[in-house]
Amino acid sequence: MATLDNLSVLSESQRNRSNAVKKLVVASIENSKNGVIGFDEFMEIVLYTENLGYYDAGDKIFGKEGDYVTAPSSGRLFGECVANELGPVLDSLDCNILEFGAGVGGLAKSVCSALTEFHDFHDYSYHIIEPNESLWIDQKAATEDLYGGFFWHKSLPRNLSKGVLIANEVIDAMPATRYLVDKGTVHELGVSLSDQELVWKEKSIDVPEQIKRVLNGYEDGYRTEMINGLEPWLNSIFSSVEELVFFIIDYGYPSSEFFRDDRLDGTLRCYFKHTMLNDPFRLLGLQDITTSVNFSTVADIAARIGFDILGFTTQERFLVNNKIEEIFARSNSDDTVANYLLAQEAKRLLLPTEMGQYIKVMALGKNFSGNLRGFVNDERGRL
Ligand SMILES: C[S@@+](CC[C@H](N)C(=O)[O-])C[C@H]1O[C@@H](n2cnc3c(N)ncnc32)[C@H](O)[C@@H]1O
Repeated sequence: MATLDNLSVLSESQRNRSNAVKKLVVASIENSKNGVIGFDEFMEIVLYTENLGYYDAGDKIFGKEGDYVTAPSSGRLFGECVANELGPVLDSLDCNILEFGAGVGGLAKSVCSALTEFHDFHDYSYHIIEPNESLWIDQKAATEDLYGGFFWHKSLPRNLSKGVLIANEVIDAMPATRYLVDKGTVHELGVSLSDQELVWKEKSIDVPEQIKRVLNGYEDGYRTEMINGLEPWLNSIFSSVEELVFFIIDYGYPSSEFFRDDRLDGTLRCYFKHTMLNDPFRLLGLQDITTSVNFSTVADIAARIGFDILGFTTQERFLVNNKIEEIFARSNSDDTVANYLLAQEAKRLLLPTEMGQYIKVMALGKNFSGNLRGFVNDERGRL
């Protein structure tokens, strides 16, 4: 594992920004009831504070020059497969596409190019729901030459009754609470201060029944996370859109794997310059912080709200079912370098040790009865 010593030196403006983010965290701890804030509150400050937090500061986040690579930021293959999935369902959903958290617009670009080039769609509306306005600049640049109408929103628009919705690596970026088993009791683990340094501290034993039940009997020191915003988020989507298919694509597991008893330190990870660092209290506002998605929980919440669970599979199966092999063959050219990069992209998307197995795809539906290609032989039984 890399250490901070061998990472690139921070610029003065990065140090200043990081110090400003720390001041906000410290103020929030000092103003809290017992000098400890939830990890979700900490994540909200360091990732999402306007103009200062990781996702809104305007630094490079995605791709080679950033901190990590997502499927759409690594090339066109992923988006062309998604377009294969969307093509047949778009007519019945008024040709509205809504993408949550579009990063630098890579998915919008590759999906829309493929819809025009291979599926003869020219007249669609693509709505990007992105709370961090600094990302709109790259998203607008990525989509400026494409067909279709593009619209930006900070939150879900209320005037669309039908649509295909996509969230690629969005839920894993949402604030999560953390829990710790200590002397047989489950505690919420929060963030506090010791000698002006941020430290983990037990916050409360008032934890959700579901977490208490799951962690009953786990060994002392076991940690896990839960993404709290899921239920209100899914609720607002369900109540705003009348007919929909919603593709959730993210790092995660069904419950049986999420709570594996050897996953002692949970699923919390931090990324800076393509290096995984497991200390969320360093590089405040400069590194990504993420936790994996428990897809059984997503399915439980979604079903309770009223969604149909239309499918669940690995990214690898989803892409193969949506003809990635054909797209790969069609995309090969006389350019050896381009072919090499294409092969690297395909490996990253498909290999079990890369995104192929770690990333899962779930489809939720409301008033939708069509077929989806990506979920042939799906794995809802694992949820
Ligand atoms: C890990 S990035 C993924 C970016 C892009 N989807 C991709 O795959 O390259 C997470 C994105 O989700 C956005 N985000 C976080 N919370 C969100 C929410 N509640 N609604 C919409 N977008 C959100 C972030 O601003 C960021 O653009």
